Amino acid sequence: MLGAAPPERRLAASLLRGGGLVAFPTETVYGLGAAARDEVAIRRLFAVKGRPADNPVIVHIAHADDLLSVAAVVPPLARDLAARFWPGPLTLVLDARDDVPTVTTGGLTTVGVRVPDHPLALALLREAAIPVAAPSANRSGRPSPTTAAHVVADLGEDVDAVLDGGPSGLGVESTVVDARGTVPVVLREGMVTREDLASVVGAVASRESDRASPGTRYRHYAPRCRVEIAAAGGAWAHAAALAAAGRRVGLVAAPGDRAVAALAAAGDPLAVALGSGAARWLGEPADAADLARLLYRCLRAAEDQDVEVVVVEAVPDEGIGRAVMDRLRRAAASS
Ligand code: TXA
Ligand code: MG
Repeated sequence: MLGAAPPERRLAASLLRGGGLVAFPTETVYGLGAAARDEVAIRRLFAVKGRPADNPVIVHIAHADDLLSVAAVVPPLARDLAARFWPGPLTLVLDARDDVPTVTTGGLTTVGVRVPDHPLALALLREAAIPVAAPSANRSGRPSPTTAAHVVADLGEDVDAVLDGGPSGLGVESTVVDARGTVPVVLREGMVTREDLASVVGAVASRESDRASPGTRYRHYAPRCRVEIAAAGGAWAHAAALAAAGRRVGLVAAPGDRAVAALAAAGDPLAVALGSGAARWLGEPADAADLARLLYRCLRAAEDQDVEVVVVEAVPDEGIGRAVMDRLRRAAASS
């Protein structure tokens, strides 16, 4: 495990240049980096993650000026989006240069690129001075890592270094947008919302299909326990029914104005279970942005605390909530 000190960063950068695997923090989730043009390193990256070969990885660069190091052309739309949202949680899909290996693009003729908004990631990319492919640093199918400890828990000895930059600020991955045409086409919902995109370019289209963004087709974000989604305001009753049935419940819901002690005194099964430790209140998100930040962390905490069923209260399916609910639905479907 390495920290943010310049010598540690330099070591991490030289590991990347030499074909090593280095996990690093970004503003969304931790990424597992490898030199984007090094086929051997990328093959090892796929093997370590257990990632299907046809699922392309996102290439990270230090600055929009470096786009032509991986993209064949940069259309005006891509320039406008990069100028507005980079560094930040937006991945642009563009036609790839011929020298980007097909292992990196998952066999496509396009490449996904972004400039992450994290000081340690940017310093690492500048120091390495090469494009760095970095999928989320989890074992394929697991919740994405939002701390260095999550990376170590999943990948441990299989990576050459983990740079620790503290917990990820956003907690859900970047928005993936096809920026080859005149209108951005959303391939994966993320932390840059459709409203954000529309404010810059007017119209936004979507094409979330298996072929458009291969990664959205696979089993995803699943912890080793069940995940159930409760309607807004309904999480307590849902979890209470499970607790009454003897299930070990984890709750991710806003506290609202519940007086848990009074409920316990009145015999409410969930309040009683929370009091005895038979149920766990894993997170108290105040809004969609807060749930984004907490979701993966709560799913991993549920495993650590031997929870059988995690009940997560839904947030409205709009703005950042679209990305959060997308991840939550996939986690629930895979569990
Ligand atoms: O926030 C993020 O995007 C994080 C951090 C580490 O940057 N990375 C991340 O990578 O989430 P990953 O590999 O877990 O997800 C990449 C997604 C997948 O759904 C993949 O199919 C899609 O981006 N993708 C990558 N390149 C693509 C391309 N050329 N065309 C279509 N989809 C692409
Ligand atoms: Mg991922």
